[in-house]
Amino acid sequence: MAQLWGGRFIKETAQEVFDFNESLSFDKRLMPQDIAGSIAHVKMLSKQSVISQQEAELIIKGLEMIESDAAHDQLDFDCGFEDVHSMVEALLIERVGDTGKKLHTGRSRNDQVALDMRLYTREHIDLTREQLFNLLAQILDLMKSHIETVMPGFTHLQKAQPVTLAHHLGAYFEMFRRDRERMGDIRQRMNLSPLGAGALAGTTYPLDREYTAELLGFDGVMTNSMDAVSDRDYLIEYLDALAITMMHLSRFCEELIMWNSDEYRFIEMDDRYSTGSSIMPQKKNPDVAELIRGKCGRVYGALTALLTTMKALPLAYNKDMQEDKEGSFMAMDTVSVCLPLFTGMLATAKFNSDKMRLSASRGFTNATDAADYLVKKGVYFRDAHRIVGELVLYCIDQGKGLEELTLDEFKTFSDVIENDIFEAIDLDTCVRERKTIGAPGAEAMNRAIASYEEYMKEEV
Ligand code: ARG
Repeated sequence: MAQLWGGRFIKETAQEVFDFNESLSFDKRLMPQDIAGSIAHVKMLSKQSVISQQEAELIIKGLEMIESDAAHDQLDFDCGFEDVHSMVEALLIERVGDTGKKLHTGRSRNDQVALDMRLYTREHIDLTREQLFNLLAQILDLMKSHIETVMPGFTHLQKAQPVTLAHHLGAYFEMFRRDRERMGDIRQRMNLSPLGAGALAGTTYPLDREYTAELLGFDGVMTNSMDAVSDRDYLIEYLDALAITMMHLSRFCEELIMWNSDEYRFIEMDDRYSTGSSIMPQKKNPDVAELIRGKCGRVYGALTALLTTMKALPLAYNKDMQEDKEGSFMAMDTVSVCLPLFTGMLATAKFNSDKMRLSASRGFTNATDAADYLVKKGVYFRDAHRIVGELVLYCIDQGKGLEELTLDEFKTFSDVIENDIFEAIDLDTCVRERKTIGAPGAEAMNRAIASYEEYMKEEV
């Protein structure tokens, strides 16, 4: 047990209290950020003549040694330090002697941990944005080869109107693009430095906060020192963005699982992304998609947990805030594993265009178009709706599709119907004629795809 305090205490912390209080077991992953923050702080202290240049150089050399040892797994994290901050400081003093004791001048672990977590989150946001970009590229690629792949569009999980696979995938492109943009917004808002806020009230040293902010790649400094050490909003926003991304992945997974089932057979997942059964030899299960869908829960959990932890915390720092880490790390790890796995699963799945088309040709997906045909012949829409409803009822009874009726049969329902009904309710016509912005027809879809390609080019 190695402690940062002592003077004020007569007795040592109880072992069980130490174990309860420690965070090194999970905040050790912040070591690179902690060291980067310390190096910036020390450079600033010497620029402001709070410490000498030689002292700064010695401390920086020591910190770089620790960093390199950490990178090469040379550090023993089982050495009884409370957290990553105390461990780095103790190792520094061990390596460079008393000069190391100057590192923490004008700084508190409160602004230190606020900084470390912000730096870590910022890096992770960049990773998520990159992973989302790769997923978007994969979706766009698939869209381009399926502009003509007709499939049923559903409402209430009932066949509704024909769409195309490109159109369906395009909906997910939009969702993941919004996710990516949302992460970008958060990154921009959070990119301010808390360093120099001290424990809560700044310090009396002539610290140059703007200088450390610049060294660490921030756009500026947080204006209020109490807010700087107490704010976890950026993390809550990011967890929220991750939760939404998982929700989108989960919806997509759910559809892929259905499409992969024997009932649909719209897709077949690759062997490499499927698993078997220990008892049923015929099985090929979409475990990856199910697990991603399942892991949504833990990411929602991290968001709810942090919101709840922060609720009712008085200003400024409280130890409760240490609880921001485990859930956030877990959520970040989860999403950064799920996104590339999902992208790989999508890239290797085989899409069965014939099955999709066959499915779209059943279930009266062209019924709206039949009603629209009547409207174009001068029938009021409400009447047209009723007539086609009666036609559908008749077809169900006859075991036929609308397009399988004869002209004579059609005419018993409405005498405005002519031979051109067959062209009007043909699946390809139904899709092609949907030309408005955002619709599945090739004309609209090509425009959408062109705008997505533009987006991808601008973002590289
Ligand atoms: N391990 C602590 C955390 O994660 C670091 C800050 C400790 N500050 C303090 N005043 N005890 O929040």
